[in-house]
Amino acid sequence: MAFIEVTQTGWVQTVVISREEALNALNDAVIEELSRVVDAVNPRETRCLVITGKGGKAFVAGADICDMSQRSRRDAMAQTLPGAQLMRKIETLPMPTIAAINGYALGGGCELALCCDIRIASQTAVLGLPEVTLGIIPGFGGTQRLPRVIGAAKAKELIFTARRVSADEALALGLVNLVVAPEQLMAESLKMAERISRNAPIGVRAAKKAVNEGLDADIERGLAIELELCAGCFETEDQREAMRAFVEKRKPQPFQDK
Ligand code: COA
Repeated sequence: MAFIEVTQTGWVQTVVISREEALNALNDAVIEELSRVVDAVNPRETRCLVITGKGGKAFVAGADICDMSQRSRRDAMAQTLPGAQLMRKIETLPMPTIAAINGYALGGGCELALCCDIRIASQTAVLGLPEVTLGIIPGFGGTQRLPRVIGAAKAKELIFTARRVSADEALALGLVNLVVAPEQLMAESLKMAERISRNAPIGVRAAKKAVNEGLDADIERGLAIELELCAGCFETEDQREAMRAFVEKRKPQPFQDK
């Protein structure tokens, strides 16, 4: 692959968007390659996915503005769709995902981070949705996901003003979970991914599904989704072993994903 680097370490897969000369901007080829990588992620092998950008400057500086500059309305419909579908695919991956934000996360880069379950930012990160400065609006889900993460009032302010926010402001807004020194970013992201990976994978996947599906449902439906998924965990060997170990006052066997 020309633009995506994938490494597997234990249960954690790291995906690096690697188009440094354009600050990792998402052109059609990057979107196509990243979609193939996401399609191939196997939950039996990968319990947590970490996504980052190549180099010290940018996570992803947005969708490719050069490619977009000549688009008609019709082209925009057709050519925005694969990116929008990719974002949804990432959001609905069964295992947790972490965006390790190593620099600019603007436009499509911020939207990519918003599709991930957890966002860890380097102190040098800069986030924002600058689309209205380019005469458009976010097209990869930013108008829908930013308000779900930080609330409608702040999301509207950031989208309408196109203001960029620092890592510290993003932390205060709840837009990122954690801010770390640049040289610690990958270590901290992998540490969290490994910690998640040590937990019962069926439980973790069920928890992600319950939160995500519940957020889009009313409370009654959300609670019904949770109960169903919780009950399903009682059919698993991992639940039996973990609870038996507690009762027998011994260390449980590592989870088997069964
Ligand atoms: N699409 C295409 N190319 C991009 C890009 C994007 N979204 N963002 C950066 N690049 C390219 C630049 O054109 C430049 O290419 P060049 O070296 O061939 O001229 C290269 O990446 C480096 O960017 P540059 O602007 O020179 O770096 P900078 O440090 O001066 O500024 C940014 C960094 C991120 C502030 C600036 O690149 C920027 O504003 N990018 C666009 C962000 C944006 O609006 N994203 C949302 C798109 S909807």
